[in-house]
Amino acid sequence: MKKTVLVSGGAGFIGSHVTVELIEAGYDVVVADNFSNCDRTCYEGVKKITGRKDLPLEVMDFCDLDAVKALFGKYHIDAVIHFAAYKAVGESVDKPLMYYKNNLLSFLNVLEVAQSTGKCNVLFSSSATVYGEPDAVPVTEATPRKPATSPYGNTKTMCEDILHDAVKASGGALKGILLRYFNPIGAHPSALIGELPRGVPNNLVPFITQTAIGKRECLNIFGNDYPTPDGTCQRDFIDIVDLARAHVYAVTRMIEGKMKKPVEIFNVGTGRPLSVMELVNAFEKVNGVKVPHKFAPRRAGDITAIWADPTLANTEMGWKATRTIEETLKAAWAWECRLAGK
Ligand code: UFG
Repeated sequence: MKKTVLVSGGAGFIGSHVTVELIEAGYDVVVADNFSNCDRTCYEGVKKITGRKDLPLEVMDFCDLDAVKALFGKYHIDAVIHFAAYKAVGESVDKPLMYYKNNLLSFLNVLEVAQSTGKCNVLFSSSATVYGEPDAVPVTEATPRKPATSPYGNTKTMCEDILHDAVKASGGALKGILLRYFNPIGAHPSALIGELPRGVPNNLVPFITQTAIGKRECLNIFGNDYPTPDGTCQRDFIDIVDLARAHVYAVTRMIEGKMKKPVEIFNVGTGRPLSVMELVNAFEKVNGVKVPHKFAPRRAGDITAIWADPTLANTEMGWKATRTIEETLKAAWAWECRLAGK
């Protein structure tokens, strides 16, 4: 029998790509979203890519416990992937209560209702932000977590802890996987779904593509005096489709009972560091476009360098990032061009 996966925040950037990969792997998917930070573009795009015109969509807020109960009453959910959360680091510093309330309450509601079904698998979308500024790179899952530098980061750390405690006390009703994402970038090769930042993008790649297309005048590269080979920060940029596929491996591992512990943690990265400058240069080269840029002061809270040791995900889950940075940056540009109607 087909298994059903609930994707909370399934109309967003990561959620929509994960939904595509789950459907292509043979899962039934229920998309749930309150559209607080996205419109219907990606949901419609997912339907086109997969041919699933009837893809279930529940417009709801996971902070509403009754709505979550109703959702689990309506569908038999074998696994839930929880994305529904606010994600802007800077905004979280200005509005901490809004972040704690939304990100914690929605996850608590998911866990409470998932547990009440007697058997459910929960995948939480965590972040490399939990490692803070690491003492050594690359980071493995055993690298100690550091205190978060923003309320957003704190919600990731707290939700990780909440999942551990909830699974432990659930008497086997819950199992969980924490995926710690590095820097997801790019778009689906169809250019039907991708990142849709509201207002001025905070993240590097949407800023690059918007600058290349002429929506923004100039990219500020925040800091060129870091102790890295070229002075700019280093990150582990991972293709969004590769990242999405990691979720299929993780969900399958949970559903097929292959987990070795009730809660497992995996880094989802490539293991390949790339500097901000290298990324900008690669984007210009592969797409044959210019990205006007200048060096600007460091951005508060930025980590100098972080990239993943993805060995555990490679060996245990059998998942590996396969897309080249060129493919990824081409896809990011194709998506921006499509948005611009070019
Ligand atoms: N950068 C620029 N100019 C820009 C935007 C970004 O130079 O206009 C630089 C940043 O200073 C940083 C790098 O590009 O050095 C990457 O920045 P992003 O904002 O794209 O990504 P971060 O690594 O800061 O953030 C990511 C996730 C967050 C998560 C954080 C910490 O997007 O959700 O990692 O793990 F919290």
